Amino acid sequence: MTARQVTAAAPSSGTEPGGVGLDQGVAPAPGCGSAAFGRSPERYSPLSPRVADLPSIFTGLHGVYFGTVRPVQQEDIWDTAAAQSYDTPGTGMFAPEVLTPTIARLTELASGGRALEFAIGTGRVAVPLAQAGVPVTGIELSSPMIEQLRTKVDEQTIPVITGDMATTRAPGQFSLVFLVSNTISNLQTQEEQVACFRNAASHLTTGGRFVIELWVPELRALPPGRRATVGRVETGYILVDTYDVLHQRVVSHHFTYGEGRQAEVFRTPHRYIWPAELDLMAQLAGFELESRHEDWSGGQFDADSASHVSVYRLIR
Ligand SMILES: C[S@@+](CC[C@H](N)C(=O)[O-])C[C@H]1O[C@@H](n2cnc3c(N)ncnc32)[C@H](O)[C@@H]1O
Repeated sequence: MTARQVTAAAPSSGTEPGGVGLDQGVAPAPGCGSAAFGRSPERYSPLSPRVADLPSIFTGLHGVYFGTVRPVQQEDIWDTAAAQSYDTPGTGMFAPEVLTPTIARLTELASGGRALEFAIGTGRVAVPLAQAGVPVTGIELSSPMIEQLRTKVDEQTIPVITGDMATTRAPGQFSLVFLVSNTISNLQTQEEQVACFRNAASHLTTGGRFVIELWVPELRALPPGRRATVGRVETGYILVDTYDVLHQRVVSHHFTYGEGRQAEVFRTPHRYIWPAELDLMAQLAGFELESRHEDWSGGQFDADSASHVSVYRLIR
């Protein structure tokens, strides 16, 4: 997931779908500065906006209006600044009430075998999972995120292979591969998302499991002609998601503001996936759905669930 700073005043319309514009998730040109922000299962990132790191709203606009923008890349997002501000020990996505059931469920699903985390990040889940006795390996695109992980554990404890989770191979076989925090939606095409399932399958022993945590796209909140939903609203923070339903994309715009007139926007582009499409991707890669719950504690998944934890089992 991604984020770029533009301006609170920027319209959310941007260019038409298929073009490069505000709704497509664009980055200011290199040198304009950046800040990262992700999309969590709670629909906002644990990352704190770092106002001091951001360029002025006019700097952001300059990049957009003078044609110096380019589609945002994951490498732009998960940079050193993002990595250093990702962890919020004890709160948000690092709170015990979030992590304890997550670790318990993953430990159970690993069934005594080895686990591989796609997009391991700074080890939010991997580190406590390893501490719980599950051998964990990671694949991760961002070197700064891995560096942050290395401040907690060494390579012997949690080996990490740098690369793309859709294609990168980790040595050995695993009983569990997991991909949490909505991160499959960071892959921007259906092709890459299917490749990710196939890559998970290639790492698993028969009967092994691939676990995905993903939000349910808020398509029911979009009446005809409407292109945005308002997610979280708090003092000084608003989340607006802009949808491109033709290309199945959503950009999360995380607005933060204070008393003054200026605001910052962190943007994260995703390819959203309805649960049924996710199941079909799994089927293409040789999995069947074993269970789906709305959280890590086994809450019932129903039509109103905002998120899901889906467990796929490799059957061939
Ligand atoms: C929201 S963070 C999640 C990190 C960690 N799994 C967690 O739960 O805290 C997303 C992570 O996905 C990584 N990432 C994004 N696209 C990736 C890809 N194609 N392959 C591997 N890692 C990727 C980013 O670098 C970042 O570390």
